[in-house]
Amino acid sequence: MSSSAELLRSVEADIVRLIGEHHERRQHWYAHEMVPWELGRSYRDEPWDESQATLAPEARTALVLNLLTEDNLPYYHLRLATAFAPDSAMNDWSRTWTAEEGQHAIAMRSYLLTSRNCDPRELEDDRLQTVTKGWSNDFVDPIEVFVYTSAQELATRISHRNAGKLADDEVAYELMSRVAADENHHFLFYRGVVTSMLDRDPSSVLQAMWKVFDGFEMPGTGIPRYLRRAIAMAKSGVYNLRIHADGVVSPLLRDWRIADLHGLDAEGRQAQEKLLRLPDTLLRAAEAFERRVGMSPRFA
Ligand SMILES: [Fe+2]
Ligand SMILES: [Fe+2]
Repeated sequence: MSSSAELLRSVEADIVRLIGEHHERRQHWYAHEMVPWELGRSYRDEPWDESQATLAPEARTALVLNLLTEDNLPYYHLRLATAFAPDSAMNDWSRTWTAEEGQHAIAMRSYLLTSRNCDPRELEDDRLQTVTKGWSNDFVDPIEVFVYTSAQELATRISHRNAGKLADDEVAYELMSRVAADENHHFLFYRGVVTSMLDRDPSSVLQAMWKVFDGFEMPGTGIPRYLRRAIAMAKSGVYNLRIHADGVVSPLLRDWRIADLHGLDAEGRQAQEKLLRLPDTLLRAAEAFERRVGMSPRFA
């Protein structure tokens, strides 16, 4: 079994290839072309009032929570930028990724402010509190970083896309689809790195994968009133345990062919077994949640 640092070095050429593929695949876009500036009015002359909002409250909650999650980008950058050597391909990637991610909060905030679909004072107070609190998680080992970012980008893609759908507004839908497409491209990069790592050292990667998936949380947990907002999003079908099981964990286990891996050591086999049981465990928890909150089957 190699160390994480050795494993990372051994996939450096794949990382360079995946960065190249990302640049070929990603379509550059401009938030200013999507934001409905024609709706903008002075908040000094006409202070915000909830009656001005055009989106349903649950759609606004989802968009605001997703925006505040994007607002914590400095801490996500910090995690990526400090996890890898300054002259590594990953350091290159961390800057590309940060530049692309930066547009997400710009786009979403511009949309919400021009369309008056958020309380601008509350949004800024929450942003300040969120960024002041910062963010970190326990997944600092390079293998864990790649597994976490794979799951997180895929989860974020789904959450943004569903928030855009829930908004039932052409502009919000287009904008959130664009943001979700970026998340998808990032997801493809991180998933690709994990695939390369799995080829070389499946036992170590499986153990890291179990650690990450077992303790997975979206990066927004430090946001004010996170729990209340996350429950609202779960109930409105933007992101919940069932989506996490069916849309994130199961597809990743399939993509990475976790069930077919062999030549594992004892710890690797244990992690493999636990991972393969995880979707069922999550679905049971999802059913319990749905029963508790009386969710209608159309969200199931
Ligand atoms: Fe993003
Ligand atoms: Fe992302």
